[in-house]
Amino acid sequence: MRIPKIQSKHLLTVTDLSREEILSLFHFAAKLKKDTKKGRYKNYLKNKSLAMIFEKCSTRTRVSFETGMTLLGGHALFLSGDDIQLGRGESIEDTSRVLSRYVSGIMIRTFEHEKVETLARYSHIPVINGLTDTFHPCQALADFFTIYENTKKLDTVKLAYIGDGNNVANSLILTAALLGSNISVATPKRYAPHVHILEKAFKISSQTGSHIEITSDINQAVSNADFLYTDVWTSMGQEKESSKRRKALSKYRITMDLVKKASPRCKVMHCLPAHRGEEIDADVMDSEHSIIFEQAENRMHIQNSIVCSLLR
Ligand code: CP
Ligand code: NVA
Repeated sequence: MRIPKIQSKHLLTVTDLSREEILSLFHFAAKLKKDTKKGRYKNYLKNKSLAMIFEKCSTRTRVSFETGMTLLGGHALFLSGDDIQLGRGESIEDTSRVLSRYVSGIMIRTFEHEKVETLARYSHIPVINGLTDTFHPCQALADFFTIYENTKKLDTVKLAYIGDGNNVANSLILTAALLGSNISVATPKRYAPHVHILEKAFKISSQTGSHIEITSDINQAVSNADFLYTDVWTSMGQEKESSKRRKALSKYRITMDLVKKASPRCKVMHCLPAHRGEEIDADVMDSEHSIIFEQAENRMHIQNSIVCSLLR
């Protein structure tokens, strides 16, 4: 199987990709996953290196990118924002110019999305968004790859997202729109996804047939849903708002009662880390409905597919 070809130099948001490109990334990820399970690693990334800048914490993103690079014959460098000169005021533009002369690609996790855009603008090498305040494209691609593995059909599934209209929700809405999948997002009104994201998603959905619903009613969202999804109420960088958010979002949680209102064989998803007992109950996470840890595993396989495509 050939490494997928992608038009865009960078992956800053899922809308850098077309529907066909996403599907080819899924097919290649499935192959890489199968090979990995059999212990058959190909050196697709021989002599390639990935600089990984983290200005926020991470378990999955850090370990999955680093392990993925190693398995495919490449090398990853963990660069904590506090330890590199970026943390002491070196500009993002100069950081980008310098890293471009050493490594083959840059993955960055940071706060403002504009920072990733600036990094990409000054970079001679591909830049991958490992999460910003606005988007989490690698997560949403891993999630829809997981949905694809579970159902093999994307245009008839319904995903219900319950909780905060955050970076993960934004990327899920846009990915659903691109793939023609149906998504219902239930949030309190003040925590709804931003209007400019929704406008973009509705525009894409008019081409792909995706049905996007934004509501504040969790029962409406989960009705006939095949997949239920939630994320933390307080994202990284919003810690000062946590008590206000806990109050406002207290009803936007996945419980076993809510699971029973969805499709009978519905699956439950969470990007992790989870706050058991807040946005999701522990018994749901540990139930047969949960595909949460498959999602976490699939981060590595889809990212391997993305890195092979961008760094070739
Ligand atoms: N889901 C996710 O991105 O996890 P980490 O914050 O652990 O990387
Ligand atoms: N919305 C969460 C996702 C963590 C992977 C955050 O930004 O903290």
